[in-house]
Amino acid sequence: MTTQRTYIVAFDTANEVVAIGIGALNAKTKSIQLIASREIEAHRQSNTQLLPQIDELITLNNIEKSQIKCVVCGRGPGSFTGVRIALSTAKGMASALAVPLYGISSLDVVAWNLWDSGIRGDCLVLADAMRKEVYPVRYCVDEEGVTRRDADTVVKAEVAAETYKARYLSGDALKKYADLFKENGTFAPEATWAPSGKGLLLAFQDAWRKNTVDPFDVVCGNPALTLPVYTRLSDAEENERIRLSKNDPKNLVSGVQDVTRRRDQRPQKHDTVLENAQAGNDGILFRPLDAAHVPDVAALETTLMGSDAWNEALLLDELPRKDRVWWAAYTDSDAEEELIGYAGGWIVDGQLQILKVATRKDWQLQHIAKRLLAYVANDARDLGARNATLEVRESNHAARAFYEGLDFSLLGKRPGYYSDKEDACIYQGPLPLDQRDVAGMSVTAHENPEVSTQHPKPWILAIETSCDETAAALIDGNGTLISDVLASQIDFHARFGGVVPEIASRKHVEAICGVTQECLDIAASKLGVSSLSWKELSAVAVTYAPGLVGALVVGVAFGKAAAWAADIPFISVNHLEGHIYANKIETPDIKPPMVVSLVSGGHTMLVHVKDWGDYEILGATLDDAVGEAFDKVAKALGLGYPGGPVISSLAKEGNPAAIDFPRAMLHSGDLRFSLSGLKTAVLTHINKEKQAGRPLNLADIAASFQQAVVDVQVAKARTALRQTKAREFCLGGGVAANPALRKSYEEMCAKEGVRLTLPPLTACTDNAGMIALVALDRYRKHLFSPLNADAYAQANLEEPY
Ligand code: KG4
Ligand code: ZN
Repeated sequence: MTTQRTYIVAFDTANEVVAIGIGALNAKTKSIQLIASREIEAHRQSNTQLLPQIDELITLNNIEKSQIKCVVCGRGPGSFTGVRIALSTAKGMASALAVPLYGISSLDVVAWNLWDSGIRGDCLVLADAMRKEVYPVRYCVDEEGVTRRDADTVVKAEVAAETYKARYLSGDALKKYADLFKENGTFAPEATWAPSGKGLLLAFQDAWRKNTVDPFDVVCGNPALTLPVYTRLSDAEENERIRLSKNDPKNLVSGVQDVTRRRDQRPQKHDTVLENAQAGNDGILFRPLDAAHVPDVAALETTLMGSDAWNEALLLDELPRKDRVWWAAYTDSDAEEELIGYAGGWIVDGQLQILKVATRKDWQLQHIAKRLLAYVANDARDLGARNATLEVRESNHAARAFYEGLDFSLLGKRPGYYSDKEDACIYQGPLPLDQRDVAGMSVTAHENPEVSTQHPKPWILAIETSCDETAAALIDGNGTLISDVLASQIDFHARFGGVVPEIASRKHVEAICGVTQECLDIAASKLGVSSLSWKELSAVAVTYAPGLVGALVVGVAFGKAAAWAADIPFISVNHLEGHIYANKIETPDIKPPMVVSLVSGGHTMLVHVKDWGDYEILGATLDDAVGEAFDKVAKALGLGYPGGPVISSLAKEGNPAAIDFPRAMLHSGDLRFSLSGLKTAVLTHINKEKQAGRPLNLADIAASFQQAVVDVQVAKARTALRQTKAREFCLGGGVAANPALRKSYEEMCAKEGVRLTLPPLTACTDNAGMIALVALDRYRKHLFSPLNADAYAQANLEEPY
């Protein structure tokens, strides 16, 4: 009897090189036989190169996809985007193959290159971290293998040159800093400097033999839990920490925005909030602890901790440190913000040491501590922590039960640890804290009110990651959305006053498995089956442009790899086309020719839809997008982010004729827009009022600004309808939620005798359902995309497909 051979696929794109290793698994001897390996210079093209290269290697070696039992991927540290491409690809591949995924340090892979080349002795691996920084890790390399000496960290190249010496040096930073490190040790051959296919397999085999991984264990190798090694927060967060560590009263403003959005954009009637790990709809604010609130923390410490309490000076000293993470929770009732809890941790040697977790007595039992810890854990993970430890008084049974509930286990005791000689119990627990990790976001499942029991194929799963929502939807052959799931990151961006691209990309990687799995699970229950696998789908579709390229690339890499692994077609969809199709959700029989107004934070345009797939842009904005203008005006008025909902609710109370703001290009004779002049006029008005010492009439400003926007939008839409003679008018984008705009369109369309479609808010803003609707048409026309498909910041909607 012959048993089928089983294989492992390993790859790394953390740097300039795409490295792939294919190995045959031998479970008896726990060994991996190298079948093929390949290293190619990628020069930032890893998303187009990786999957075609893997496909070629598999085919050349006559390996069936069903024989792949494990996926291994380099987690960095390295280029953030490079690492995310490998991980997103690996997550998609492992999810669709239903096999485990394991991450390996890209630096360990280089160390195994050294071992493989016969080098023995103390080695230092230095990877380029850009910004004149390097990732240094020391290893002991001997006959037995490789032993790591340091946790991942990032330091200035010059500091590393002063600090680290070794017998041998390797790593791609040597290319850039050869001179700087020439005295620090002998340079190993350049062939060892970048991760290799063989190095990946050797590193994994070592972990297998040490029983830290098992290539056949899907639970242990849960693809959702494998995450990049960053060792740094995003620049926006780093700068925020510096600002917050200073005792500046302005710090108090940070983060208030979370609530504004929630008040206006509560989930709709048909939505169910499935998971809400951190940011609640309960008016509780979470944000990094700032110096101005340290006295409040110290006061609460004294009440709760007695002799273990930390004082103000101790706490203030913590905040500016790069290896510390402190978060606080506040109530935001109509009165003042009040501190109700805080948590702090220290990242040391790849471990999060939880220093403090406390909640005010009257707020206990509301999961505040758990949510605070989740925030701390999120940051700690980005800073390189892989697990968490803490000490707790032996007699503190409530706290011990709390940690045990979070899967922490008792490691041992430290006798007489506390000042009163009580023993400390030492616990260790996993990071991240949630099994199905959605990066601490609220996941919303949109319920389709249409009740249908027939769900003919094709079944297409669509993914949207172009901006700050991670979304997945499943559509059937009738065009019914069987499942439509969305995780919003808004709470992670709000306190920065806008979407931070690096944070968006990170969150997509964290959430993509959880969101797509939730989508499949909901679909399974609708279909009346216990589970739905990727292989049962007909195609995978993904938004490929336009949007934030680092965010898009996560969805594209994940979706391509999942489609490849499931042997089904891959479809790439233009995000703006999605917004056009979203109107089918409200009006299933809507049909071209029609005029669509796309108004969001990134776009403002009138599109003539001559047929599905045949578009003409009649006019677009020359400068700011409409949503952007709302956001900028709100920011100037100190109303937080996003601005649209706040401005529109304020406007209800105001007089739209109070201030005569300009209607730019109203009579320009064409269908283009300009909004920067209006924005400037509002800012000038605000300054003038302030200088004159008059209080700002927020409601009048909001109403007058909004009216100026609406007048131009509606007038140009009317012209577009008359020019094209289209009998259908519809909307897309977040600004389409604006009640004044909707009302004016109703009046205009009634007068023009044109059918108006006003999609519900959930269909106007970014979602995956709209991408699925486009994908269904594409699928029927057999318009599929190749394995080298990529993500793009821009794409031409007019180009026929
Ligand atoms: O389509 P969207 O969710 O995201 C993209 O920009 O792609 O749109 C978000 C934009 C934000 O600028 C937000 O301020 C605006 O839509 N918005 C509104 C309203 N609700 C959201 N603008 C005006 N009035 C509203 N009610
Ligand atoms: Zn959009």
